[in-house]
Amino acid sequence: MKNLIIYYSLDGNTELIASLIASKIEAATIRIQPVKEIPTKGFMKYFWGGKSVVFNEKPKIVYPIINVNDFDQIFIGTPVWNNSYAPPLATFLYENKIENKNIILFACHGGGGAKKTFERLSNLLQNNHIVHTMEFKDPILQNRDEVINQFNISIEKSETK
Ligand SMILES: Cc1cc2nc3c(=O)[nH]c(=O)nc-3n(C[C@H](O)[C@H](O)[C@H](O)COP(=O)(O)O)c2cc1C
Repeated sequence: MKNLIIYYSLDGNTELIASLIASKIEAATIRIQPVKEIPTKGFMKYFWGGKSVVFNEKPKIVYPIINVNDFDQIFIGTPVWNNSYAPPLATFLYENKIENKNIILFACHGGGGAKKTFERLSNLLQNNHIVHTMEFKDPILQNRDEVINQFNISIEKSETK
């Protein structure tokens, strides 16, 4: 089974989870990169990021050279923004048709949880099989072992060659 990890991360939390998954399975990894990143400092990121969610924006992204159809199982990761997925991931999912795949969703949040985010992503990815969801509260503030203990699936089991 060929694995792909696709994620967006502004402050590194979702990236940490993506790298932990990548350390356990053989997978290609795509970090979605907006052409113009929102400011990362202070309150402005909440303003610009929140506005981007509210207006359902699809910011331009740097196009990854990868074909999602080459993979069987796709891990999709996002920070929770305003109880939803981050707009750069929306752009990727809008521009790449993902169908008939095993999907594992992972999300990082600041304490509000990721239930709504997973519901929204599941709606977008209807023609797929959502195998698992995993959520983490700001994992870069925790130690690595604590974070790994929160993995609610054995990632190794996801790899079936
Ligand atoms: C624009 C914006 C909106 C956010 N909205 C939420 C939210 O609705 N609920 C929540 O629990 N955390 C929220 N957060 C916090 C992030 O989800 C959290 O810090 C996450 O770990 C960041 O992931 P990253 O480091 O991969 O960007 C928000 C952060 C930003 C920048």
